[in-house]
Amino acid sequence: NAQIPTIAVTGAAGQIGYSLLFRIAAGGILRHRPFRLRLLEVEPALKALEGVVMELQDGAFPLLAGIDIGSDPREMFDGVNLALLVGARPRGPGMERADLLQANGAIFTAQGRALGEAAADDVRVIVTGNPANTNALIAQRNAPDIPADRFSALTRLDHNRAIAQVALKTGAAVSEISRVSIWGNHSASQYPDLAHALVDGRPALEVIDDDAWVEHNFIPTVAQRGAAIIQARGSSSAASAASATVDAARDLLHGSAPGDWVSMAVPSDGSYGVREGLVSSFPVTTSDGNAYIVPDLELSDFARRRIDASVAELQDEYDAVSALGLI
Ligand code: NAI
Repeated sequence: NAQIPTIAVTGAAGQIGYSLLFRIAAGGILRHRPFRLRLLEVEPALKALEGVVMELQDGAFPLLAGIDIGSDPREMFDGVNLALLVGARPRGPGMERADLLQANGAIFTAQGRALGEAAADDVRVIVTGNPANTNALIAQRNAPDIPADRFSALTRLDHNRAIAQVALKTGAAVSEISRVSIWGNHSASQYPDLAHALVDGRPALEVIDDDAWVEHNFIPTVAQRGAAIIQARGSSSAASAASATVDAARDLLHGSAPGDWVSMAVPSDGSYGVREGLVSSFPVTTSDGNAYIVPDLELSDFARRRIDASVAELQDEYDAVSALGLI
């Protein structure tokens, strides 16, 4: 039935996939609508993926209308309305950054092209696989027939981590915290920003009343949370990354909460001095599958420097993948 929306997930046999698929199957993104899943993996992981499919079947999810798996992006992206690009090549021992960009470049050029050829006209693409911003840039540039603003990279996990730290610090409920912002790259250079955040309607910085904590505790804790989780857990954050991917997709399609915003890395339109085309995180509102950069926020000198530093890193990655001929 052509009316049933199709969600593609790449890297579906990986650790994020193992959480993500069950959250999606339970209605986490499309809520009450039936949908199909298309799961893309590399050939050697297809057997493991068959096991995951067996478990999905065993969940007897009422909304899950069908599952296809395969290793050909063109086939798996055929007619998809939402593509969650989670699979990526992790940095191996001794791998230089250029090697990492090249290995992922091969994946995201191919997937971008396949999306451009095969996806539905209304496709939305969210890249979780790292380096997420630059992978999204590569996919977007290799799908010139898809409007650039359909592509985004996940900084919702950073956004959620920032909310969690403010909740822990202030004792406020997560639901009382709004207008947190993540700027720049999904990397340690990101700038988690509380300047416009509210706690129960009051300026968060006033409620926190501890500038040293914000600069020396909050910012590094959020920016380096991924490393802290690897240290504690022995492997990288997976369930929280899956949860953030669900949050990002759900809010993109159904809209961010009135009066609040979310963080998402989107192709810059030049806002806040971020060079046009770089996929950089901004505070955005969302509705009906579109993200709108929140305009006219005032930035302190400190914020300006932090954002510029993270955007400079994105520019370096841009130059590197451009030199490799990937965009
Ligand atoms: P994982 O290594 O457990 O799973 C990745 C899966 O992707 C593997 O099963 C692998 O076979 C598959 N894969 C590799 N190349 C592929 C291709 N060309 N097509 C389809 N599948 C392919 O990794 P995990 O923990 O699930 O993480 C996935 C990615 O998400 C990593 O790049 C990780 O760094 C990133 N990540 C991003 C976060 C964010 O906030 N943006 C947070 C946490 C992780």
